[in-house]
Amino acid sequence: MRILVVGSGGREHALVWKIAQSKLVDKIFCAPGNGGTALQAENIDIRADDIAGLVRFGRREKIDLTVVGPEVPLTLGIADEFEKCRLPVFGPNKAAAAMEGSKVFSKELMRTYGVPTADFKVFGEAGAACAYIEKAGAPCVVKADGLAAGKGVIVAKTVDEAKAAVRQIMEGRVFGPAGDRVIVEECLTGQEASILVLTDSKDVIPLATSQDHKRIFDNDEGPNTGGMGAYSPAPVVTPALFDEIMKKIVYRTIDGLVKEGITYRGILYAGVMLTKDGPKTLEFNARFGDPETEAILPRMTSDIVEAMLAAASGNLGKFAQAGGLAWQTRPCVCVVCAAEGYPGEYKKGLPVSGLDAAGAMQDVMIFHAGTKKKDAGVVTGGGRVLCVSALGAAIRDARDKAYQAVGKIHFEGMQYRTDIAAKAL
Ligand code: AMP
Ligand code: GLY
Repeated sequence: MRILVVGSGGREHALVWKIAQSKLVDKIFCAPGNGGTALQAENIDIRADDIAGLVRFGRREKIDLTVVGPEVPLTLGIADEFEKCRLPVFGPNKAAAAMEGSKVFSKELMRTYGVPTADFKVFGEAGAACAYIEKAGAPCVVKADGLAAGKGVIVAKTVDEAKAAVRQIMEGRVFGPAGDRVIVEECLTGQEASILVLTDSKDVIPLATSQDHKRIFDNDEGPNTGGMGAYSPAPVVTPALFDEIMKKIVYRTIDGLVKEGITYRGILYAGVMLTKDGPKTLEFNARFGDPETEAILPRMTSDIVEAMLAAASGNLGKFAQAGGLAWQTRPCVCVVCAAEGYPGEYKKGLPVSGLDAAGAMQDVMIFHAGTKKKDAGVVTGGGRVLCVSALGAAIRDARDKAYQAVGKIHFEGMQYRTDIAAKAL
């Protein structure tokens, strides 16, 4: 089979790496890819949001399955366009991807179908939102409705901070039309977990649990990032909690979508806060998490392409009957190496050394996030540069090995958190 992976981050390198292990696969393309995907796939110079260009490529190259990594093409309707051309695609269609593309849509769906989530109100106008914030008080959370590259959520400690966020979003239009509506919601506290499931709307197969680290600095300090590390499984999700999350969050949501006439095929990612009143949904994503994927996929022992083909064709039930997804028990820890200055401004084009030595370690996987191939070597090309993943007998072993591997890697100004997975020890 010929597979096309769309995207260019650490998640896409992990997908390419896992897809390359499938016995069904002869050739992988990655659009646009990075310095790491180039090791197992042929990088194609088409942007992830150039849907017409990707469809043309898919038709010309007779692609048997297209796997979409990032949210932007999904919310733009890439799956719909591929399906129109009878090209199999892994990822939800535009209506289903609204679970991530519109927070108002997903929150209202949760309210309608009794999915536990923070109490909220929707506003189409800044004055009304600010008046409500004054009445409700702080802390509270302000969210732009649409996609904002992970920056659209402000957890405000004071009323002034919340009102400033509303004004920036609705009057300053910092996220453009994504800020036409805002949500003001109750601030939840607790540990977070990422629950990813594979679904075709008829059947649901959960992936291994995981936990992300969103803040840039140790002890969850500093600004939010795309994610500075992850580990799988997340022991905080006990079997009883897992069952509750599946029943009250995952099944209710997928059934709710079906009742709304929406078929969801692909990965549904629930960001869950484990509050003292039980698990509550923070958000849904319509795709694999990044960097969760870099901690989850090294543990998967099944052929991921079989699973994706089953979900894409609506035959997940058969796949489940044949055994479904299998996992090794060993945990995986992934540490992100980022550029100096990230998540703000940062330099690009800095030479990266030590990748071969780190990658040669047993049970260590180096997933490139923001790199480019240059001459014989690799240079930085993004804020999150590398994800260093390691499997170990216990979380502690996996963590120690990941940090040993990180110790072999160098580029000017490299920063990483030193407390990834500490919460799980
Ligand atoms: P989201 O993009 O919705 O996942 O939000 C990003 C981060 O903001 C989450 O991972 C949480 O840490 C935080 N967050 C979102 N909603 C809430 C909430 N209602 N209460 C507290 N923190 C939240
Ligand atoms: N790790 C958070 C996300 O993928 O959205």
